[in-house]
Amino acid sequence: MRMANKIGIVTAAASGMGRAGAIRFAREGAAVGVVDIDPAGVEAVVAEITKAGGRVKGIVADLTKDADSKRVVTETAKQFGGLDFVWNHVGHPGPAAMEGLDMKDWDQAVDLNLRTVVITTEAALPELRARGGGSLLYTASTSGIHGSQFSPVYSAVKHGVVGLVRGLAKRYAKEKIRVNAICPGPIDTPMLRVFVARPDQQSTLGMDKEELVRSRGGQTPMGRPGKAEEVANAALFLLSDEASFITGAALPVDGGATA
Ligand SMILES: NC(=O)c1ccc[n+]([C@@H]2O[C@H](COP(=O)([O-])OP(=O)(O)OC[C@H]3O[C@@H](n4cnc5c(N)ncnc54)[C@H](O)[C@@H]3O)[C@@H](O)[C@H]2O)c1
Repeated sequence: MRMANKIGIVTAAASGMGRAGAIRFAREGAAVGVVDIDPAGVEAVVAEITKAGGRVKGIVADLTKDADSKRVVTETAKQFGGLDFVWNHVGHPGPAAMEGLDMKDWDQAVDLNLRTVVITTEAALPELRARGGGSLLYTASTSGIHGSQFSPVYSAVKHGVVGLVRGLAKRYAKEKIRVNAICPGPIDTPMLRVFVARPDQQSTLGMDKEELVRSRGGQTPMGRPGKAEEVANAALFLLSDEASFITGAALPVDGGATA
């Protein structure tokens, strides 16, 4: 098993890539804190992992709240007796608007893509240090590598995630704490339906949401959207000891979109 005896956390784990990751990590031997705002979704993931014989703790948390961003670390470490990794997967699609931007939307994008992950990281570092090292993973986006005309605000915050990762990687390398980002392209999850439903795209293309999902995937060199499990596979590698000499990387999982 590729994560035997590891203890970790996955945020935004009730759906999409986070869910796929939590289930995969548990199957590979990790004890996993499954964090999400959606109680029914958390319960379903916990039930699935438990049924397969895995170790799991469900934590319902609103990661726009500072106390919750911290609590997910303390609860997981207390339950399992330490912490080896965190996948800070939570995020927000950001507002489409630039002119007429409502700053409440800016705040939401910053809170869920940056503020919460900084707080969780701050809480996790002493736990990782106590284990002699560990691994942190953050979900950025291809929009954290190149600009997105569909949401410049989203691009700004996801570039921020990549910047945070590079700084942390250098700062904590000597303490054997590795820090990486994963940069998904279009992945077939509920959030992709939010991305493609932005008004400027629908009016330009005149398609319904499912056609837009296929069309967005079709724009990648591989000609399709990615699957949540394909991102979970990359996350597993980066979080596991197999990636022992990789830190500060921003890995695209995008069917060649940023090639
Ligand atoms: N799907 C894509 O195409 C895509 C592409 C690039 C990057 N991303 C990034 O991936 C991450 C999530 O993507 P996904 O596609 O797996 O999403 P998803 O829509 O499948 O799931 C998002 C989850 O986040 C949870 N959530 C929302 N607000 C929360 C809060 N305040 N506190 C705790 N949990 C909350 C939801 O309940 C849901 O379970 C984000 O960081 C997003 O920016 C997605």
